[in-house]
Amino acid sequence: MKLLANFLCVFLILALAHADHHGDHSSDLPDRCEGLEMDAAVVNEDGVPYFFKGHFLFKGFDGKAEMSNESFAELDDDHKVGHVDAAFRMHNEDSPDEHDRIFFFLDHKVYSYYDHKLEDGYPKDISEVFPGIPDHLEAAVQCPHPDCDEDSVIFFKGHDIYHYHVKSKAVDKKEFKTMPNCTSAFHYMGHYYCFHGHMFSKFDPMTGEVNGTYPKEAIDFFMKCSKFGDNSDNLDRERCSRVHLDAITSDDAGDIYAFRGNFFLNTHYENHTMTAETIGHAFKELQNDVDAVFSYNSHLYMIKDDQVYAYKVSNPHTLAEGFPKPIKEELGLEGPIDAAFVCEDHHIAHLIKGEHMFDVELNETPRVATNERTIGLFKKVDAAMCGPKGVKVVVGNHYYQFDSIALLVGAKAIPEQHRVAMDLFGCDH
Ligand SMILES: *[C@@H]1O[C@H](CO)[C@@H](O)[C@H](O)[C@H]1NC(C)=O
Ligand SMILES: *[C@@H]1O[C@H](CO)[C@@H](O)[C@H](O)[C@H]1NC(C)=O
Ligand SMILES: *[C@@H]1O[C@H](CO)[C@@H](O)[C@H](O)[C@H]1NC(C)=O
Ligand SMILES: *[C@@H]1O[C@H](CO)[C@@H](O)[C@H](O)[C@H]1NC(C)=O
Repeated sequence: MKLLANFLCVFLILALAHADHHGDHSSDLPDRCEGLEMDAAVVNEDGVPYFFKGHFLFKGFDGKAEMSNESFAELDDDHKVGHVDAAFRMHNEDSPDEHDRIFFFLDHKVYSYYDHKLEDGYPKDISEVFPGIPDHLEAAVQCPHPDCDEDSVIFFKGHDIYHYHVKSKAVDKKEFKTMPNCTSAFHYMGHYYCFHGHMFSKFDPMTGEVNGTYPKEAIDFFMKCSKFGDNSDNLDRERCSRVHLDAITSDDAGDIYAFRGNFFLNTHYENHTMTAETIGHAFKELQNDVDAVFSYNSHLYMIKDDQVYAYKVSNPHTLAEGFPKPIKEELGLEGPIDAAFVCEDHHIAHLIKGEHMFDVELNETPRVATNERTIGLFKKVDAAMCGPKGVKVVVGNHYYQFDSIALLVGAKAIPEQHRVAMDLFGCDH
């Protein structure tokens, strides 16, 4: 808490100085790229992580802070508290009153939310709902069977760890000796993460064992930032980051280009290596935040906002004459575009915009977007690419493989999930 108070103090001074300087009040919001120590973290029912800091909430891995009471109205009622101590999402299929609820812990009170609405009778005392669990918690995370012996919640306070069995309400107190004191924790994509300060460690929920080279910087894996620390390893970070990709494509040589924020990852087919560098270095007219990219005719067509940039693939990459051009003029469609791809030996760019896909015959002039159809499976696609095995559609941390465009458009059920970091870039941590 002392650290937090110091930090808040420094932050306020900086924020005030900044606001004063620019007369800009948006800078009163905390910036997650400063390496914040989060108070609590929880993954919502759609798999979107929420990070809590003071009165603020960060949704997902990028974007600005919001007031937490905009999403969870009652959380800020008690202004003396001013922050969430811990949060978790309940997994208890036997109890429809509790299953999928998000529980928040503030001092000695617990709040239960379903679909952003406070459940009747809450807030309640922690001792009433979770007998044997102390007040003033530091972190909490659900641990469903079989990750834990039975469906459990793990509560953290200092070095003490409490395994709370949701069925029997039995409490098993342990010490996770090798683990730092967590200030927040969550269960994400099959792994358990403990955040401490601006670092995090992946741990075994039963034993508290931490394997591999932890702790790591939380912003490297869980935040989209324009800059990272001096010690940040660009290649490791861009391969392993859990932040969604902005755009992806492979060129004629089979090299993959994957864009995220200010950086891109490039796999080199010929020598089986990868490199990561800033977009500004290789594509200086573009700098950052690519919306979509496709490869065609030895060029990378990169789409950002309402402009298209065509770069000839060479060393260095060079912007083709006359570019950037408005998307409307070049491809016959208004931006923004979420994803784009061209399949081998075809001359059709497939553009995905929200739930809709359009085809643009690239051999024709003027080019027009035709054949509009709905992709029923995904509300929003982050990136897509086409190769000899068909179409890969990237949504968040996962990609989905479709043998053909027809199968993508006609699909009724989500196919097997592949992990972007692991299955595309070989990051196993
Ligand atoms: C959230 O809290 C702030 C003060 O902390 C208050 O001004 C605002 O009206 C609250 N918003 C909602 C939606 O309750
Ligand atoms: C961790 O918590 C214990 C109390 O259980 C406390 O004595 C210790 O100082 C804490 N460690 C850190 C690094 O804050
Ligand atoms: C750590 O390694 C041990 C032995 O390989 C394994 O049993 C355990 O599940 C690992 N824990 C984590 C958190 O990866
Ligand atoms: C692999 O190939 C790429 C592209 O040709 C080149 O930039 C890189 O330096 C090569 N790496 C090694 C280790 O040879």
